Amino acid sequence: MKGVILAGGSGTRLHPLTRITNKHLLPIYDRPMISYAIEALVNAGICEVMLVTGGTHAGEFLRLLGNGHEYGLDRLLYAYQDRPGGIAEALGLAERFAGDDPVMVMLADNIVESSLRPTVERFEDQLTGARIVLSEVDDPAHLRNLGVPELDSEGRVVRIVEKPETPASAYAVTGIYCYEPGVFGVIETLEPSGRGELEITDVNNFYVARGDMDYDVRQGFWGDAGESIDAYYAVNDHVRAHGANNG
Ligand code: DAU
Repeated sequence: MKGVILAGGSGTRLHPLTRITNKHLLPIYDRPMISYAIEALVNAGICEVMLVTGGTHAGEFLRLLGNGHEYGLDRLLYAYQDRPGGIAEALGLAERFAGDDPVMVMLADNIVESSLRPTVERFEDQLTGARIVLSEVDDPAHLRNLGVPELDSEGRVVRIVEKPETPASAYAVTGIYCYEPGVFGVIETLEPSGRGELEITDVNNFYVARGDMDYDVRQGFWGDAGESIDAYYAVNDHVRAHGANNG
């Protein structure tokens, strides 16, 4: 299994902080945000990662992360996204890197408290399709900023709605996804959404419709530090008090 970390986008919700740097280089407690995603994938047993980023600060990632050896990676490769065309578009840039291997994808503004290894192991048994990670979120206002699954009476995902007005469940789709190598063919079939992006939720709904989508519900803290300035500080406070990637 290979890893793909997505660190492009424009970070408008954290303006003006993100006018002068890339969102994923901002600090979370004592380290740049990006280092938590790298550590999460390394803890999950992944040794080869592609980092996709864009904008005017892309070179800073190379200066910070180098070849990734210091972080426990065997190989760290980079791809450049010309414009923020969406999460699925950014993932598409990793096609040649992934080759015939399945991938675990992580959005670089997501921070987790405990290991992603169980999800990797279950996906290795699942063999095909996709596996997403859900996190229980009590506050509907918070869910309106995220992807939310609708579940049937047996707990199967019926569909995922991106930033729903009325959330259909109390779960967020986190920015942690496992895909079969065929995901790159799915991305090629996507049309840009109303906001002009190739949406990862459309990729996930493809697998839901094919009946090839499973999920794990995360135990422990999960945060999206890019959701808003308040979420950014809430994640900082949590990591400062409890740490992250605690095994
Ligand atoms: O964090 C979880 C949420 O992430 C999910 O619940 C949503 O379903 C999913 O769409 C996503 O929502 P966001 O609104 O947080 O997506 P955002 O546009 O902030 O992008 C998240 C990360 O993806 C960002 O930190 C960097 C990367 N990205 C994004 C875009 C638009 C790229 O690498 N390239 C891009 O073009």
